[in-house]
Amino acid sequence: MSATRKVAVVTGSNKGIGFAIVKELCAKFDGDVFVTSRDEGRGKAAVEELKKLGFQPNFHQLDIDDESSVLKFKDYLKSEYGGLDVLVNNAAIAFKNDAPEPFSEQATLTMRTNFFNTLRFCNIIFPLLKPHARVVNVSSSVGHLRKIPGDDDVSVALRKKLSSSDLTVEELVKMIEDFVKAAQTGNHQKLGWPNSAYSTSKIGISALTRIQQKAFDHDSREDIVVNSVHPGYVDTDMTSHKGPLTIEQGAVAPSWLALLPSNIEEPKGGYVWYEKQIVDWVNGPVPTVI
Ligand SMILES: NC(=O)c1ccc[n+]([C@@H]2O[C@H](COP(=O)([O-])OP(=O)(O)OC[C@H]3O[C@@H](n4cnc5c(N)ncnc54)[C@H](OP(=O)(O)O)[C@@H]3O)[C@@H](O)[C@H]2O)c1
Repeated sequence: MSATRKVAVVTGSNKGIGFAIVKELCAKFDGDVFVTSRDEGRGKAAVEELKKLGFQPNFHQLDIDDESSVLKFKDYLKSEYGGLDVLVNNAAIAFKNDAPEPFSEQATLTMRTNFFNTLRFCNIIFPLLKPHARVVNVSSSVGHLRKIPGDDDVSVALRKKLSSSDLTVEELVKMIEDFVKAAQTGNHQKLGWPNSAYSTSKIGISALTRIQQKAFDHDSREDIVVNSVHPGYVDTDMTSHKGPLTIEQGAVAPSWLALLPSNIEEPKGGYVWYEKQIVDWVNGPVPTVI
């Protein structure tokens, strides 16, 4: 390892789509690739599985819900590599449809990992990004703005605010905080939000991606690109193995975005579908989900 060697990191990559993204990056990325996992045992088992396939991934513990874990990882990347070239924000949680936890609790926990702690991770790690770095925020088909369904004034205003080119991170955070507050009393739909914490978390991530790209466009570091992606409906623990796509198919678009060549025109700050098409996040239409 050295400060000149390139490095790629995938959060939550001990299994599922994240694991397959690491596999794809091990095959195609010219540098070191990190499996990260909140659980060291599960992470190291994933590394062993990849080694059996002939790949040489690295491992570091990382729980995005634990700030000290994030800070340790940041220090490690800084001292070993002097920065970061590829970051895939893949780690997320989703409650099952029949989960016993009340919606208020689901909203708090889902937003904590999928939105607030993903944002905190970005804020801590982004200073390490090198010129030409590529960031991929794994969103979902339900992260499309049109998943805010209504045509009433409140829903229209919510969509307008989320898609405004002037939206700031602080304003977005306040909106998501308001969703969580409203969810405690079941009033979130009155604010225009969908009746799904997971969907709201991914709408938040795709809105955040647009703001992050605007900041990168004015960054002194050249050509940093971030996109959000719907990886497809994939056979993983998250979907109780109901998705028709393999994890390798789910890794196609995220890996493509992670390896976008230097100085591309687009996608930048975009919302990308699993077949690599750039989808209009504001106006739709939302492509069919298989
Ligand atoms: N599968 C689909 O059809 C589908 C569709 C659209 C979007 N997505 C998105 O794709 C991404 C991957 O999903 P998946 O289906 O592969 O899910 P998965 O099989 O449940 O894997 C999720 C991964 O995230 C990790 N994780 C959860 N919380 C974490 C935390 N606080 N810190 C670090 N890692 C954490 C999990 O670790 P543990 O093993 O320790 O739990 C696991 O490695 C997610 O962002 C998901 O929302 C999936």
